Amino acid sequence: MSASFSLHLVGSSRRLQQYMNQLPTAVFLVNQEGRIVEVNEQLLRVTGYSRDQLVNQPFQTILPFDGSVVQMYEEHLQKEEQLDVHAEVEWRDRQGKCGRTPAMIWVQQAEQPLYLIHLFQLSKEMDYALSQRLLAKLTHDTSLGLFVLDDQARIVEASQAACKLLGKDRLQVINTHIDHVFAGIPEQHRLIKKELLEGVKLHNTATSWTNDNQRYELIVDANTLQDDSGKTVGAFVLFKDITNLRSYEQKLERNERLAMIGQIAAGTAHEIRNPLTSIKGFLQMFLKSFTETGMDREKSYTEIMLTEINRINSLVSEFLLLSKPRNVQYSMVDLNTVFAEILPIVESQALLYGIEVKFTSNGKLPMVVGDTELLKQVFINICKNGIEAMGEQGTLHISHHIDQNEDKVSIDIRDTGPGIPLYIIDKIFDPFFTTKEEGTGLGLSVCQKIIHDIGGQIRVSSKGYGTTFHIMLPYL
Ligand SMILES: Nc1ncnc2c1ncn2[C@@H]1O[C@H](COP(=O)(O)OP(=O)(O)OP(=O)(O)O)[C@@H](O)[C@H]1O
Ligand SMILES: [Mg+2]
Repeated sequence: MSASFSLHLVGSSRRLQQYMNQLPTAVFLVNQEGRIVEVNEQLLRVTGYSRDQLVNQPFQTILPFDGSVVQMYEEHLQKEEQLDVHAEVEWRDRQGKCGRTPAMIWVQQAEQPLYLIHLFQLSKEMDYALSQRLLAKLTHDTSLGLFVLDDQARIVEASQAACKLLGKDRLQVINTHIDHVFAGIPEQHRLIKKELLEGVKLHNTATSWTNDNQRYELIVDANTLQDDSGKTVGAFVLFKDITNLRSYEQKLERNERLAMIGQIAAGTAHEIRNPLTSIKGFLQMFLKSFTETGMDREKSYTEIMLTEINRINSLVSEFLLLSKPRNVQYSMVDLNTVFAEILPIVESQALLYGIEVKFTSNGKLPMVVGDTELLKQVFINICKNGIEAMGEQGTLHISHHIDQNEDKVSIDIRDTGPGIPLYIIDKIFDPFFTTKEEGTGLGLSVCQKIIHDIGGQIRVSSKGYGTTFHIMLPYL
């Protein structure tokens, strides 16, 4: 090939490739020396070769002909003149498998002729089965959400996972207009928007979607589909469901935050507690002498100071509890005894607010493994929250049941308070989250730590009116 021709070819090779790829048949271009100059996608699909494996190779790689390309061309022409139809050629694929197919050889008459060889019947249809199979796989893949839209915004294909996202059956979705599928949902909140057909591309776009039952966190890719002339004929949308990943991330984030708070707390709690102990000691001495000398005013001030010191002390204890896996002495705990001991405390507190406490026991509570004092602290904290939430009147119900599914005993503490608004419910277990002027926001985070440490769970349900905390513990 002369230098000028090869330059010319290089310059136009992209257009040539585009042209060849649009052809429905397998096509390749051969030069005078019999070397392959260019191939199209269809040829690669039917032969199994990559482009690099073919370009610059002798044309015999595909057509096992004994002779030059010129000879082949002339023989082919002769046959065609006799037959009046496209003559057949022998061809072979990468595995060496041979077959025969009608072919057309077209020559570009130039200083350096080029032979364009069409292999009919090795058309897109041949490998259609394979792409069909891929589509079938994609549409049945459990985790990949795929929608294909036509230019009228009808869903022509939807994978099983995609239909699950919609909360619908495939039959309800296929060939249905998106306006119909998302009837009643404003355009901006739809999972699939019409603007996709106008060329709005999405790449790794994070979004969330809630159908009637469930909320999904998704990563979305979307683009238009064009026909051979470049006209938009549809669009596709691909979803990856990352809901689990997201909640895992949130958990991780929370644990990191807890660990950080823990480090700070562990570092400062002891430093606070030591001076407190000596202040407390001296105050007790003052109290004694004020009592003896009848200095009542000073005595009452000292008593207040001591109460305040005790408050700081219990706060510091909570800090220490959050900060490190304390050397807790686990033993068998009888929950019946725990409740027998805490009920009077809860009742006396409730009485102050005019609140009724109802303890419903359907049979004996089982034994659990844990730390008695810490478990008492959990139940008292949660009851205290309930009482504080109800304010002037209400009922605090305490009951229990065995959760067969989870294999746990569940202690349920229900109040008739205003409930917990949805927008804060995710935060109530966070250390320092409080909506109370006097609150520290440590109550529930300490409870959660104590319960998690013994393999239990705390769940909260609050639907508009009233709140229930379920403390679930593995039992013996
Ligand atoms: N039964 C409940 N009803 C309504 N809101 C509640 C209930 N229990 C907890 N909350 C909410 O959760 C928040 C966090 O509770 P938590 O016990 O951790 O801290 P706190 O009660 O605010 O402070 P502290 O326990 O230190 O007094 C509360 O401030 C309140 O907004
Ligand atoms: Mg509290």
